[in-house]
Amino acid sequence: MQKILWVMAVLALFVSTSSVAGDVAAGKAKSAQCAACHGAAGISPMGLYPNLAQQKEQYLAKQMNDFRSGTRNDPTMKAMASALTDADIANLAAYYASIK
Ligand code: HEC
Repeated sequence: MQKILWVMAVLALFVSTSSVAGDVAAGKAKSAQCAACHGAAGISPMGLYPNLAQQKEQYLAKQMNDFRSGTRNDPTMKAMASALTDADIANLAAYYASIK
């Protein structure tokens, strides 16, 4: 019995840590407001705006956090990132990283 409880505890831990990673579908839904500048599938129509598709998830999340905190300074992205929650950032990073 104790063994079963232990296995369940490990499984629960695994499920909860894996859900920390972003949700691709939620990120895609949220990305509508980014498409004007960064393109419909993260490929920017203009050189002024960086492509987001296929960049590393951790990198994208860090940039969004840095824009939000002001560590990376860009007025446009500061305004965009300020409206994002931690979950939004994780989801958006997962979505853009998932595009092939
Ligand atoms: C009004 C235009 C505009 C919108 C809308 C916009 N961005 Fe940006 N984004 C920019 C610009 C300009 C930069 C480049 C800033 C710089 O050079 O530091 C940028 C940079 C970024 C970067 C860094 C990319 C890199 O290669 O370092 C990320 C990540 C990003 N944007 C995510 C988003 C997300 C997610 C959204 C939607 C919530 C969004 N942006 C909406 C204009 C925009």
